Amino acid sequence: MSAPMLFIPGPTWVPEEVARAQARPMIGHRGPEFTALFEGLIPRLQAVFRTRGRVLLVTASGTGLWEAGVRSLVRRKVICLINGAFGERWAHVAQANGKEVVPVQVEWGRGLRPEHALEALAAHPDAEAITVVHNETSTGVMNPVAEIAAAVRDASPDVLILVDAVSSLGGAPLETDAWGLDFVLTSSQKCLALPPGLAFCAVSDRALAKAHEVPHRGYYFDLLTLARYAERGETPATPAISLLYAADVQLARILEEGLEVRWERHRRMAERVQAWAAERFGLFAEAGFRSWTLTCVANTRGIDVGVLNAFLRSRGKVISSGYGPLKGKTFRIAHMGEIQPHHVEELLADIEEWLRREVSG
Ligand SMILES: Cc1ncc(COP(=O)(O)O)c(C=O)c1O
Repeated sequence: MSAPMLFIPGPTWVPEEVARAQARPMIGHRGPEFTALFEGLIPRLQAVFRTRGRVLLVTASGTGLWEAGVRSLVRRKVICLINGAFGERWAHVAQANGKEVVPVQVEWGRGLRPEHALEALAAHPDAEAITVVHNETSTGVMNPVAEIAAAVRDASPDVLILVDAVSSLGGAPLETDAWGLDFVLTSSQKCLALPPGLAFCAVSDRALAKAHEVPHRGYYFDLLTLARYAERGETPATPAISLLYAADVQLARILEEGLEVRWERHRRMAERVQAWAAERFGLFAEAGFRSWTLTCVANTRGIDVGVLNAFLRSRGKVISSGYGPLKGKTFRIAHMGEIQPHHVEELLADIEEWLRREVSG
């Protein structure tokens, strides 16, 4: 059975050339070949993160770096902005690492605003950091991280700003340095269109300085250990070298397309899918906060998404059901990574055909 085209929010479709790169011969991770590979990746990752600062990588999915961020950068107390399942889970990870979490709950589907952060900071002046998910994959909301970060910097200059860009980095504007972000993490398998298994983060100098004051940072995800090894072009433990080969090829492809061109491609696909969804169904995310990388469709017609997906599979495509409590009430169409506008047109044509047959007919 050939694999369907993935319109799910990760893993996303990996180009052949990138997948093939994983078959390159193995090398030792303590030798010059590895250091050359590692050091070749860093400037390209910096370009994608829009930072001149430090970028680190781990052999793990993004969840590992959730843990790294809160465990290495928070001594005691962290404010977690939550407007969906992933914001909630990052807060849970912070708690599981023994941190005191101040959860700021905002209705799912609504966007986070600077006021949400400011109110929490006023009530908790001893908070050391704030977490925010740029793109809530569960609801299709893209949060205004630039505005939130500016407000936090202004009100509480010492508070670190930790950002989950798992389903946005490479598919929507995110400016680590210009927005003054301290820790930005992403996974390999979303907009970067790599296989799962790697996670990348940008870490500011002041964040790293803070890590020195934090005890019990663990080992595998200790940002200080990762940074120390990165300085000599290595990782503390054996990394997924095959995935790094794939990253080597794919990061070059991304920069060849042009990061801003790539963002614009995502924006145009979002605009198309969201205009279609608004006409045929509804949109779950609040206007003004809609994601560039996925669309969360409000299932106003009560269609059976499982049946639709079975039809789409027969056409070599698959979309995603609603997340957790939103299952049945919504479904999600991801337009991220290497998905092109013509793929979106083909998908929408198939869904239209199914609607004509199954719903109207
Ligand atoms: C916004 C967001 N954050 C974090 C995660 C967890 O990432 P991973 O599955 O790479 O651990 C996901 C996964 O879908 C996500 O969408």
